[in-house]
Amino acid sequence: MDGRDQLKATVDSLVQSGKGILAADESGPTIAKRFKGIGVESTEENRRAYRNLLLAAPGLSAFISGVILYEETLIQRADDGTPFPELAARLGLVSGIKVDAGKIALSHAPGDEITQGLDGLAKRLGAYKEQGARFAKWRAVYNISDTLPSRLAIEANADALARYAAICQDEGVVPIVEPEVLMDGGHTIERCAEVTEAVLHEVFHALHRHRVVLEHMLLKPSMVVAGKEQARQAPVVEVAAQTVRILRRTVPAAVPGVFFLSGGQTPAEATAHLDAMNRLGPQPWALSFSYGRALQDPVLQAWKGQAANARSAQDALLERARLNGAAREGRYDAAMEDAGRQRPAKGT
Ligand code: 13P
Repeated sequence: MDGRDQLKATVDSLVQSGKGILAADESGPTIAKRFKGIGVESTEENRRAYRNLLLAAPGLSAFISGVILYEETLIQRADDGTPFPELAARLGLVSGIKVDAGKIALSHAPGDEITQGLDGLAKRLGAYKEQGARFAKWRAVYNISDTLPSRLAIEANADALARYAAICQDEGVVPIVEPEVLMDGGHTIERCAEVTEAVLHEVFHALHRHRVVLEHMLLKPSMVVAGKEQARQAPVVEVAAQTVRILRRTVPAAVPGVFFLSGGQTPAEATAHLDAMNRLGPQPWALSFSYGRALQDPVLQAWKGQAANARSAQDALLERARLNGAAREGRYDAAMEDAGRQRPAKGT
């Protein structure tokens, strides 16, 4: 297979009806924060056991096409000694890897941030590919206020995302381009729409400038929502309409898939929003999920670091994956949440 065929094959295996991506690529400090929330120490073995539990959830590939891993997980092994990417492939899941090196303050732009990690990226991607990764992720972060993000932050992050995407495609790895407009703050949904439109417009301008093949990438945006501290939280249908309106203005039809991040929404909110978008009718791109917290929060709560809870934790993951798989097709109903809670626990 030549490079382009390989990229196309990876895109096709990620973009499947009824399926989305599990983001399990929390960096060291982030997973430590999630574990702290359930009273679990972040040791290498605890992280391995937790990621093992996620990947090995029986039947996960019915609703999940790919999983984003952190560098450490890529080289760790499952309970039976199989390297995680190999286990994932055997279970029908495509492995991806977070390749950015996190964010730092953007010089001369108070309040803005820039994502780093371009130096040596091609070489790292070569090694990740050998280890089984077929797609990558790079997250740019935008803080919102009346004045943020600045033009400088919008342009600098767009350029870094596009450089990353071009390097990935050179190495035969599908780039997931993730511009995240944060939910922190008291801004209105209208302000979020304005910022998201400016951000996405600039991202696609930069992708064009860097000759990124749009057919061979995926977009992972945030949804258009009001800030967490804003008193008026928009109803589900308004979030869906605003998000799709901004995507239609900015995302070329050649992009095969839009896989949203959850960004701090509750699991049920993230599912309802995706469902409502898919109910608006056919769009040029598939609208799916690439959730971290919205898939994993109930899993962490059920697990609590105890091996004896592994099966009920896996059931919690399968339940959220199933509901999001339905939302991916516009076939979710809030009543399905209660049905899930009433179903007796399996494998006891
Ligand atoms: P959340 O869905 O928790 O926002 O995580 C997705 C992700 O990959 C963040 O980079």
